[in-house]
Amino acid sequence: MLEAVIFDLDGVITDSASYHYQAWKIIADELKIDFDETYNEKLKGVSRMGSLELILDNGPGKDAFSQEEKERLCTRKNDLYKELIKQITPSDLLPGIGELLKELKANNVLIGLASVSLNAPAIINSLGIKDMFDYMADAAVVKESKPAPDIFLDNIKGLKVNPANSIGVEDAEVGIEAIHRAGMKACGIGSVETLSKADLLLSSTAELSLDKLKAML
Ligand code: BG6
Ligand code: MG
Repeated sequence: MLEAVIFDLDGVITDSASYHYQAWKIIADELKIDFDETYNEKLKGVSRMGSLELILDNGPGKDAFSQEEKERLCTRKNDLYKELIKQITPSDLLPGIGELLKELKANNVLIGLASVSLNAPAIINSLGIKDMFDYMADAAVVKESKPAPDIFLDNIKGLKVNPANSIGVEDAEVGIEAIHRAGMKACGIGSVETLSKADLLLSSTAELSLDKLKAML
């Protein structure tokens, strides 16, 4: 029996993953470090500081800057990002997500949010879907970022469900690993190059349905 579906946010519920990329691209260009959409795949699901360090790996290395300088770069990236996400409205739900959330609710399947983004509550509000969630993990209190299972386990605890009866939906390789480490089945949204370990791989959220998710268990 499917008890819960636990969603990643960026790149699954809305296309904010592209805003993360745009903001980091400005920082990388300023630092004169090569950074493109292919390399950006590595950053998906990774914390803010972790993302900066991955970008620096492509240039002078993560030890080339002091902790204070890195904090300053992270703050600047977040300021750029916050400007970009101001434009998010309910029409920015990715295809099929609004319908799926309603279908899950109508069938008493619990809905959770497992985003490591500190901006997640603001985005969920802008999308107008806060009331759809039975539980949302607080990224500020979940210590270990993906691929650690913590953010999914926090949902499992908050929703009081059995991980074996729950599915996680992710667009990031580290996210698929986190879902598996939490003892859940993983539905990947994206391409086989990065998400080959997903139990069900869909190329777009438009292909998601309750029946497909149920068939995974
Ligand atoms: C994840 C994104 O959801 O959140 C990452 O996939 C991002 O790209 C991470 O770095 C942290 O987000 P924020 O908004 O707290 O910087
Ligand atoms: Mg994501």
